[in-house]
Parts: sequence; structure tokens; C-alpha cells
Amino acid sequence: MKKIKISPSILSADFSQLGKEIENLEKGGADMIHVDVMDGHFVPNLTIGPPVIKALRKYTSLPFDVHLMIDPVHKYIKDYAESGADIITIHPEATKSLQGSIDEIKKYRKKVGLSLNPDTKIEIIEQYLEQVDLVLIMSVFPGFGGQKFIKDVLNKIEKINEIRNKKNFEFDIEVDGGINFSNFRDVLKAGANVLVSGTTIFRENNGDIKKNINFLKSI
Ligand code: DX5
Ligand code: ZN
Repeated sequence: MKKIKISPSILSADFSQLGKEIENLEKGGADMIHVDVMDGHFVPNLTIGPPVIKALRKYTSLPFDVHLMIDPVHKYIKDYAESGADIITIHPEATKSLQGSIDEIKKYRKKVGLSLNPDTKIEIIEQYLEQVDLVLIMSVFPGFGGQKFIKDVLNKIEKINEIRNKKNFEFDIEVDGGINFSNFRDVLKAGANVLVSGTTIFRENNGDIKKNINFLKSI
């Protein structure tokens, strides 16, 4: 069983205090910081870009797990790599050449993540799996925090985990969207080992980040 990692999403953080919030996440035991980048085109919301990520870099040495919900994505990979991203996760639908974009991320020596929306089939990324460090299974349609977990994705997590085990691949399986205290164990049992959470980590137990992160690790 791969180590369980928690990657809190700063989408649910106080955007006027992102530096402080990131410090609190590190103190609270986060393994990575999930940065949801949205362009108002690939998804119906607009968040932050490279200048903000660059400004936040000095607040933690934890990996920046950058989820690019932007289209087109290829021409911006350089900017995110140079702003301080450690893992760059892209959506296959947002690039003309998935192989080209994977190569571009690797050119900057960053880890490669591929993200599947709830209605996107595993088949479209299967041939690339040996090259990637992370597969991000969306359990909501991307764009907003606080949405309801889509239970059907549990089968997809099991399927990608089967492929990982059968082929001895090393990539992490990360799940993002609607993770809470009543569904996280199902997600881990299905084979995921990285949980993204914004609402649950920032809002539960009166915002006790450390308590919430520890609970999500207690399978
Ligand atoms: C959707 C975002 C959210 C966020 C987590 O585009 O990617 O899934 O990270 O949101 P919560 O944990 O609030 O459902
Ligand atoms: Zn995300």
C-alpha cells in the first residue's frame, strides 16, 4: 500500500491570507499543497496564475501539486514550471498533443500528472501511464469547491489501481472533489493514496486543520 498523502486544496483557503494559510497547512501535517488553477474557459471559474504561485513559493518547502484546469495548457507549462510548481497536472482534453505536453513538463524536470474528469474514460490516458507520476481522478466536475462526491468514480479508481498493480507502475492515484469524513475510506480502499480536500480540511471541527488532516489519514 503506497503511503497515504494529503494534498489540501487552497481553493477553500482565505485568499487574502494565502501565505499564512499555506504555513498553517504545513504545520497541520499536509504532505503537499494542491493549487487549483482555473482559467474561466476550461472551467467556469477563474482563480490564480504563475505570479501568485511564485509569491507563495517562499511560504513552504512542501511540493506544490498544481492542477491546471486551463485550455490551452501546453504553451503555459513553462510559466507554471518556472513559478515553482513541483507536480504539474493537466487535463488531456486541453492539449493538442498529450505526449508533447508530457515531454514539456519533463523538460522542466517537474512531475507529470494527468487528470480525468468524471465523464472522461481511462482509455484516453492508458498509453501514457508508464510515463506519469500521478493520475488525478476528479470526483466532481471541476470548477468549484464544496461540491458533492460522485460515487461512480469509485469504479474508475479501482480500475486505474488494477492497471497500476498489474503493470507495476509507480504513479500516485489522487482523488479530488467532495472528499469528506464519510467517503474518504471508500476512496482509499478503492486504491487511491492521495486525497485532495478543501472544504473538509478548512471547515470541519471549526477549521482545526491538524485534526482534519490526521483524520483523513486514519484509514
Ligand atoms: C474542483 C476543485 C475542487 C477542490 C476540492 O475544480 O479541484 O475539487 O480542489 O474541493 P472540495 O474538497 O471543497 O470538494
Ligand atoms: Zn484540483
